Amino acid sequence: MRLQKLLSMAGIASRRKSEDLIREGRVFVNGVKADIGMSASPNDDIKVDGEKIKFQNKRYIILYKPAGYVTTTADKFAKKKVVDLVKTKERVYPVGRLDADTEGLLLLTNDGDFANRIAHPSHELEKTYTARLKARITRQEIDKINQGIIIEGRKVEASAKIINERKNLVAITIHEGRHKIVKRLFKSLGNYVLELRRVRLGPLTLQGLKPGKWRDLKEKELEMLNC
Ligand code: URA
Repeated sequence: MRLQKLLSMAGIASRRKSEDLIREGRVFVNGVKADIGMSASPNDDIKVDGEKIKFQNKRYIILYKPAGYVTTTADKFAKKKVVDLVKTKERVYPVGRLDADTEGLLLLTNDGDFANRIAHPSHELEKTYTARLKARITRQEIDKINQGIIIEGRKVEASAKIINERKNLVAITIHEGRHKIVKRLFKSLGNYVLELRRVRLGPLTLQGLKPGKWRDLKEKELEMLNC
């Protein structure tokens, strides 16, 4: 098998990033500096930056992220990280991001290619959020969202509906992944998101999960994600 494929299977980096590691001379196979195009197997002694790589099982995890946890893995100062909620032998990391104060559905994996495919615009999965707003939202504003509001020169493909008028609760489905897009959308209408929860990602929902709890995805769910 191609070395870059093996490295991505081991959860080291995506295939493209693994090629960079090889090019940079950071990968050794059985004591010999690796070249691009080289083949190897899991039985070989493969080292990246001097560290022997271990072949991990692939994990695909769905987590109900509680508010107050960050999705970044690198932040040394963050006290509460989502990766600390998921106790697995394999080192998994979040697919995409949610704001610290957003709760809801988050995928984690150690499969770099899967993470890239899920996040890629060509594969963009629909995401549904519920948002509790500061001010009452009008039917006209909901219509505006459904017609497509322009944010930073690009239309936001979204559909919204009021769930509970008295509680200022709306559901909004978005077909894109721009940073803080839900909050920015309501801000553009002069409103403010008080609470945000992602309740659906493509075919997946939070059903059966509670904040802070997680489980492995089922084979059938992985198939439904179509990757
Ligand atoms: N949109 C936001 O504004 N925040 C999130 O966490 C996700 C989508």
